[in-house]
Amino acid sequence: MSKKICILPGDGIGPEITAEAVRVLNALHLGFEMETALLGGAAVDAAGDPYPEATRKLAAEADAVLLGAVGGPRWDNLPREKRPEKGLLGIRKHLNLFANLRPAMLYPELANASTLKPEIVSGLDILIVRELTGDIYFGQPRGIESHSGERFGFNTMRYTESEIRRIGRVAFEAARRRHRKLCSVDKMNVLETTQLWRDVMNELAPEYPDVALSHMLVDNAAMQLVRAPKQFDVIVTGNMFGDILSDEASMLTGSIGMLPSASLDENGKGLYEPSHGSAPDISGQGVANPLATILSAALMLRYTFALEDAALAVEGAVKKVLAQGLRTGDIYEPGMIRAGTKQMGDAVLAAL
Ligand code: IPM
Ligand code: MG
Repeated sequence: MSKKICILPGDGIGPEITAEAVRVLNALHLGFEMETALLGGAAVDAAGDPYPEATRKLAAEADAVLLGAVGGPRWDNLPREKRPEKGLLGIRKHLNLFANLRPAMLYPELANASTLKPEIVSGLDILIVRELTGDIYFGQPRGIESHSGERFGFNTMRYTESEIRRIGRVAFEAARRRHRKLCSVDKMNVLETTQLWRDVMNELAPEYPDVALSHMLVDNAAMQLVRAPKQFDVIVTGNMFGDILSDEASMLTGSIGMLPSASLDENGKGLYEPSHGSAPDISGQGVANPLATILSAALMLRYTFALEDAALAVEGAVKKVLAQGLRTGDIYEPGMIRAGTKQMGDAVLAAL
């Protein structure tokens, strides 16, 4: 099996944090071939395109992609086609990365980082399965037009049943490997698209009799996530609701700097990135938390390369570093040892 990884450092803190994850991957001596390319604002600056041809080619050839983060205020006023986010949406669509797995788990060492009471979040371990290549994000028609002297904006929420079915299967199977509880989130009381979503999830359920399927409306789900988040095991939802709920879920842990994510196609190819953004306010200072990116590399080992032992080794090393008391600024508490990006990477390497 070839093991080619495309590295996309991106913008802001992206280059600093991916550098640490690359060091960890190299230290495993698993024969990975790595090549770097541009995505996002960095690509706009260099090539006038947030997802340039050279990157498309490399990403398409690779078995997996490791991404830092894209975006920053510098590019916010560019036309939509040239915004860094367009690069991210472009690569998701191009590589057919329809299944976005966003775990939100609370490390016992970081229990105080959450803004919620410890008893509400201790032991929290949720997986959000977000559909990533459909919904209102990509639906046509869309735009801003004028009619009778007034501008109007419009987008289209749409899902085909096969799109719903394939993400449903990913979620049922993930639930099967966890605590066998799947909550599908929709807005079927108002939106037809999500009535279809609920219907298709119900049609799938008999194939997974060992998984308990439930449904929840998205507004209630947003509320339940802060009221009693431990009621959830796996949540499956569409692109838009998943975007919002996964940010909410990540904050239950208080440390978005710790959360990895995986975006997978139908064949195990994946793009792996931290759940957090490019943090332009701290970029270039060597203080960003590289752990979410390192943990994203662990997900890559697990999902794309089926190297479970290596994945566990990396995750174990991260836990060890936390137990040693090392903390970057985002997860710092008095009494702990304040560490920079590189120092954190060093400690993970040592713990490996
Ligand atoms: C995310 C981000 C992206 C999204 C943006 C940057 C386009 O918020 O990955 O959740 O909305 O999907
Ligand atoms: Mg988001």
